[in-house]
Amino acid sequence: MGLLKKKHDTAGQVDKSRLPRHVAIIMDGNGRWAKRRGLPRTAGHKAGAEVFRRIATYCKDLGMEYLTVYAFSTENWKRPAEEVSAIMGLLHQYMLEAIDSMERDQIRLRFLGDLSAISPELQALVERTNAISERIQGFQANICLNYGGRDEILRAARACASEGGEITEEQFAGHLYSAGIPDPELIIRPGGEQRVSNFLLWQGAYSEFYFCDTLWPDFNESTLDQAIIAYQQRERRFGGVK
Ligand code: IPE
Ligand code: IPE
Ligand code: MG
Repeated sequence: MGLLKKKHDTAGQVDKSRLPRHVAIIMDGNGRWAKRRGLPRTAGHKAGAEVFRRIATYCKDLGMEYLTVYAFSTENWKRPAEEVSAIMGLLHQYMLEAIDSMERDQIRLRFLGDLSAISPELQALVERTNAISERIQGFQANICLNYGGRDEILRAARACASEGGEITEEQFAGHLYSAGIPDPELIIRPGGEQRVSNFLLWQGAYSEFYFCDTLWPDFNESTLDQAIIAYQQRERRFGGVK
């Protein structure tokens, strides 16, 4: 590619000195994207997985520290069995590829969610990616898998209760799946819906939200730039006054 690679239209418009450290994305709209093309929903998930690879690389290249994506929620088990197994199959394929490429790409991976409910094969792949991540410094992609914000909060509450004593915010946050990861400054939801769907309920307390109609498989570097540019124009007050 090199010189032949065409820059996307918003390239250079993001202020790199004021990047969010952590961006989170609800990767929504795969099913509708496929339907519009007369394809099975699973084709949308396949295209969506490709976009995730591309956006993770772009976030790293921009200089961000963390990207968190919502891949499968605690509610997504309600979907037809074939769709669930297609999504798990894509995750399997992604992890196998990641095991080969993450060290070269310098992308750490962490999975957030109740992984006890996923297949033993996937759990084993998570273990392998965790071991590789230990050798990598820098950019980290967090993949929310069988993740639910309420499930996460309940678990933290139970863990704190079993420890006894006065519960502090730090202690509580330390029992979340996201322990040690700073809260996302920006949460993006493509796909046209304007709701949180059980994503990062605790961590998103003061996140800026950006909603757009672009369906996830059509999301690209430019869509991300637009979200970051919008974020950079906002005034974050955290309850205070400016
Ligand atoms: C998001 O796309 C992917 C998952 C929830 C796994 P959807 O599958 O929800 O796509 P739409 O919202 O039906 O278009
Ligand atoms: C949220 O999308 C979950 C993921 C993107 C993984 P959904 O498509 O499941 O959310 P709802 O049903 O529109 O709220
Ligand atoms: Mg959806």
